[in-house]
Amino acid sequence: EQIEKGGYDHFMLKEIFEQSSSIHDTIRGRVSTKNNEVFLGGINDVIPKLVNARRILIIGCGTSWHAGMVGEYLFEEFARIPVEVEYASEFRYRNPVIFKDDIVLAISQSGETADTLAAIKLAKEAGATVLGICNVVGSSIPRETHAGVYTHAGPEIGVASTKAFTAQVTVLTMMAMVVGYRKGTLPKEEYHKLIQEFGKLPAKIKKILEKDAEIKELSKQYVDSTNALYLGRGYLFPVALEGALKLKEISYIHAEGYPAAEMKHGPIALIDEQMPVFVAATKDKSYEKIVSNIQEVKARKGHVIAIVTEGDSVISKMADYVIEIPETQEALAPLLTVIPFQLISYYIAVLRGCNVDQPRNLAKSVTVE
Ligand code: G6P
Repeated sequence: EQIEKGGYDHFMLKEIFEQSSSIHDTIRGRVSTKNNEVFLGGINDVIPKLVNARRILIIGCGTSWHAGMVGEYLFEEFARIPVEVEYASEFRYRNPVIFKDDIVLAISQSGETADTLAAIKLAKEAGATVLGICNVVGSSIPRETHAGVYTHAGPEIGVASTKAFTAQVTVLTMMAMVVGYRKGTLPKEEYHKLIQEFGKLPAKIKKILEKDAEIKELSKQYVDSTNALYLGRGYLFPVALEGALKLKEISYIHAEGYPAAEMKHGPIALIDEQMPVFVAATKDKSYEKIVSNIQEVKARKGHVIAIVTEGDSVISKMADYVIEIPETQEALAPLLTVIPFQLISYYIAVLRGCNVDQPRNLAKSVTVE
């Protein structure tokens, strides 16, 4: 096992660090920065269906559902297709409305989650086209779907998903780009800009991972926290959800992810000097808004730990800690901002003496209903 961990203390840490190369494996042979092209062989034949789709239903559980939430923002922005993101367990049991021309996108790392598998069967019976985004090659879900795209992140052993999440978001981004470009809703220049930026992501992730020691140090501050709040807006709202899930899964600290603007409708009541508030606050169109959310937290003496874009001079004056990450396009920001959150959870959990690779009560793949 020590050998399999490749010199890291835990599989989770190894998998977090693998992301600069696993993302490369996900885009390899699919994104060509030379020809400015994205090609997804697994779903090429169904692209016309996607281009004409009236709506897309994305289904998944846990972290895969969070990736699906990013997918909603991507497909709506690039391809102008309405998207609904569903927990597989809710979808399957509530007699959902499924149209024959619906595209159902099932996301699953393991390809074995019972609820997701059952939701797929239901959608197929209703006549929808079902596509899969899975990591484990040859697992049940890819066999049950009409077509799909593998994430190729490599085996993920840690129960808390890390590199599978960034791989799922990468696939969703590529899909939305292809569909949007073919449909004409994603302008050529934008499409090309995204492709070029994709090529730069592995190096940018590496740069974030170099902050490991810094992140480990700041994590010490929050080892005894009992609650934590995670905030983000737009593309970074699902990242806040994922950040909170990572922390609760492995450190057993109660954490909630919220769209930053919703804070005033509830969670703000909880903020005091004991409450760490982790904010994904990179430069994008809601930057000014998130700055005021941070001020609201500080006014109530909350501790703010913000993920910001390199060179940010505004938030660094307000927050207790900032973690600077390289600039990228707004739609690609989830792929970078989630990484410091993964590391923070990892270090807090390790310092609390938790079994990070196999947290209590959790399973890597939930094959029961
Ligand atoms: C379990 C795992 C999570 C995972 C979820 C969905 O809860 O612990 O890490 O996100 O199942 O699994 P899937 O394999 O369908 O992505």
